[in-house]
Amino acid sequence: MPHRPYVIDEMISAKAIAARIEALAQQIKQAFAGTEKLVVVGLLRGSFVFIADLVRELDMNVEVDFLEASSYGDGMESSREVRILKDLRGEIGGRDVLVVEDIVDTGFTLKHVVGLLKSREPRRLETIALLDKPSRREVDIKATWTGFEIPDEFVVGYGIDFAQRNRNLPYIGKVRFTEPEQA
Ligand code: PRP
Repeated sequence: MPHRPYVIDEMISAKAIAARIEALAQQIKQAFAGTEKLVVVGLLRGSFVFIADLVRELDMNVEVDFLEASSYGDGMESSREVRILKDLRGEIGGRDVLVVEDIVDTGFTLKHVVGLLKSREPRRLETIALLDKPSRREVDIKATWTGFEIPDEFVVGYGIDFAQRNRNLPYIGKVRFTEPEQA
């Protein structure tokens, strides 16, 4: 299906993202100062760029694991039904865990994942989201740490897609459609 034409306007530069991650990493290191090895869990697919940059700022022992959750498919609207497509490889019972998310929108994904992982009884579980759209929230959840609060814009890049495009942009951009929607 041909897609509606759009351009991408830069919203958060690669430099601004890097600076924010450096600051967040300091806070995380302090918060987990006594942790022997932190389990850093990236939610696929959107968080793959963020987690790669974040863990390289965390000069502490980390174990990296991934969980794939999906609620959007290729569409723009959340299905509100979170499916776990790939579970963690490792055990998290009794351990310190940091869940890394690219964006919190309705909140369904993060809420579901936090509930699932807490049922495995980690010693401590915290969350970090690069982006937060508080105006879109439908369930009560907020990440422990947030990179940037943004307005309700359709964003892409730095891991985030629009119909599986644009994940490889080094910055966060805003989608701007250049033609009216077909009836
Ligand atoms: C996107 C995004 C978050 C989630 C946020 O994932 O990466 O995980 O939606 O939305 P929510 O707060 O409304 O639940 P998506 O399901 O598109 O999968 P992806 O990460 O593989 O792109």
